[in-house]
Amino acid sequence: MTGASAGIGKATTKRFAENDDKVLLIARQEKRLTRALEEIEASVPGADVEPLALDMADPGSADVLRDRVTSTGLPVSGLLCCAGAVPQSPGTDAGDVEPVLTEWRDAYRSNVLTAVVAVESLVPLMADGGGIVLYSSIAAYRGSGGTGGYGAAKAALHSYVHLLATRLGPRDINVNAVAPGYVAGTDLFGDGLPEAREAMLVRQTALGRAGDPVDIAELGFYLCTRPGGYITSQILQVNGGAHPGA
Ligand SMILES: NC(=O)c1ccc[n+]([C@@H]2O[C@H](COP(=O)([O-])OP(=O)(O)OC[C@H]3O[C@@H](n4cnc5c(N)ncnc54)[C@H](OP(=O)(O)O)[C@@H]3O)[C@@H](O)[C@H]2O)c1
Repeated sequence: MTGASAGIGKATTKRFAENDDKVLLIARQEKRLTRALEEIEASVPGADVEPLALDMADPGSADVLRDRVTSTGLPVSGLLCCAGAVPQSPGTDAGDVEPVLTEWRDAYRSNVLTAVVAVESLVPLMADGGGIVLYSSIAAYRGSGGTGGYGAAKAALHSYVHLLATRLGPRDINVNAVAPGYVAGTDLFGDGLPEAREAMLVRQTALGRAGDPVDIAELGFYLCTRPGGYITSQILQVNGGAHPGA
């Protein structure tokens, strides 16, 4: 599980731990990984969870990840690529191209390359009949506030899902994306969204509330624990009824 030290990734890791699955928690910052690990071990006694501090957008992480997984002697039955970030928008129409390019590069690196490095390094170690889940966003359909690169990067994952589903279908490996709407209680927006923006996002849902990381965790768990199922090459939206075009 990449992006396992916070928010949706941490909640999803906990869901697998409750099922007695062995889970490798991957994120960059060791301290946050350790805190997440302690939290999961405290709420799921006997949880079989291990940390691995890696920048998944760094191509050098591929060998480290593969070696670590190989050393367990186990095949990978589920790979969930939850690492992601919303880069700062330059927020200007002054014609200054460089900061906009930086935002787009950062968005692609954090949200696309993290998935590509994880998937391509572990595909040879995947169990036939396993599952891969990538994490998109409602932003892939309607953009996200003032940032252009984030939604575009998430949309790029959709095409990768279709490619992988075709490549890995003969091995009975299902590949799907989960595209959440606004999920509160994560670190994705730093200190949180401005109150007015959060209220607007909640108003746009049919259920009248923000998502919770646990709402999203259930779907990732389902998609990986139903190997051999007929759901593959899909982008599954979990957004409380917030219309992508709203
Ligand atoms: N929260 C929402 O409203 C929402 C909505 C739609 C989609 N999503 C997507 O859902 C996923 C999880 O979001 P979240 O809200 O749970 O975010 P979060 O709380 O900020 O967690 C992001 C996780 O990704 C890790 N990460 C970021 N860059 C990484 C890298 N280069 N290599 C390895 N790990 C990295 C972070 O740890 P380190 O920083 O220590 O690496 C952290 O564990 C993301 O892909 C996000 O785009 C979230």
